[in-house]
Amino acid sequence: MTTDNHKGLAGIVAGQTAISTVESSGSGLFYRGYAIKDLAEHASFEEVAYLLIYGELPNSKELDDYKTKLQSLRALPNALKIVMEQLPATTNPMDVLRTGCSVLGTLEPETDRGLTEEIANRLIATLPSMLLYWFRFHFHQNGTRIETQTDDNSIAGHFLHLLHGQAPHGLQQRAIDVSLILYAEHEFNASTFSARITTSTLSDIYSAICSAIGTLRGPLHGGANESAMQLISRFKDEADAERGIHEMLANKELIMGFGHRVYRNGDPRSAIIKAWSKKLANHHGGEMLFNISQRIEKIMFKEKKLFPNLDFYSASAYHYCGIPDNFFTPLFVISRTCGWSAHIIEQRRDNRLIRPSADYTGPAPRPYPSPHKSRQQQ
Ligand code: COA
Repeated sequence: MTTDNHKGLAGIVAGQTAISTVESSGSGLFYRGYAIKDLAEHASFEEVAYLLIYGELPNSKELDDYKTKLQSLRALPNALKIVMEQLPATTNPMDVLRTGCSVLGTLEPETDRGLTEEIANRLIATLPSMLLYWFRFHFHQNGTRIETQTDDNSIAGHFLHLLHGQAPHGLQQRAIDVSLILYAEHEFNASTFSARITTSTLSDIYSAICSAIGTLRGPLHGGANESAMQLISRFKDEADAERGIHEMLANKELIMGFGHRVYRNGDPRSAIIKAWSKKLANHHGGEMLFNISQRIEKIMFKEKKLFPNLDFYSASAYHYCGIPDNFFTPLFVISRTCGWSAHIIEQRRDNRLIRPSADYTGPAPRPYPSPHKSRQQQ
């Protein structure tokens, strides 16, 4: 019997994992034992991807080889390019990725479970290509079929290069790299859990990743970074934000980018991305957006004792890097594909079908109406 306390499976331990943990005090995050703060300071996203998928940090040769491998996997099959061209320009970019992942699954199906890591790498390498091929085809000099290769051997740099059509600024590149590290993995969050559920039926990796992308799309999960940006950009200055947020709270509206199911004393990733957002604001100008964000943070703590989660300051950081708002959640997908893949591999190693039970609240058993009487007469 569930109680209201456990609604949404809150506080329920739904399995075991060796991939990451949120510290019991609810303030730390570790990927395979490494603190997120250390990884964000010293590692690259590719290093973290390797750690999550293969279980240990790579040595420098392994890392170089891995980066070269990911670089070599970026090209899209022609059939996939044609599908990207056929998708309407109005398509939600999350749907572009979900569709792209599904199509790749038909062209390069997972016929051998020994190839899961290879498919994970292929997806990590091609998701940016899919998104930016579709984007540049529809929005930049209509009909341009871009090459999805660049000289940049980092996913962050490659992504920015394809997006803007030129080599990225170093500060922006590292900011995106760090944000990808922060987004890469987060224990049994909703999208990862949906990937594990799909995997537990012995389905394939593409189906599991498609389930996860669909789950991440919602504003209570990954979609919050985009929604946070919509919120922040509504206000013209700090005083306007103060008025607006008080009004929203009075109307019992959700403030996107605040609160968390697991963290009770603050999201350890938030301070890291906030520092990057400030650095970018100082460097690229337009500090008002950062100042408005800080004012919202202050009000939310004062009024609700709620703190920003990773999505809140990711919004301004991404904005300062020239990322369109509706690409915020797709960037989250590109990063979290590492975490999802690690969980798919882990689930398969010790699988049991995930199928919980429910408390029934419907009518008691009752007779089917006699076929000879009309329903109205009953
Ligand atoms: N803005 C305003 N109030 C919020 C809030 C927010 N962002 N987050 C939580 N609250 C309030 C709830 O309304 C609830 O108030 P109540 O007890 O008066 O009903 C209380 O805080 C507890 O929240 P609850 O919805 O039970 O927490 P949860 O664990 O089910 O949900 C989130 C967690 C993340 C879904 C929730 O905090 C939220 O919707 N945040 C905004 C979306 C977001 O940023 N998502 C990204 C998560 S990383």
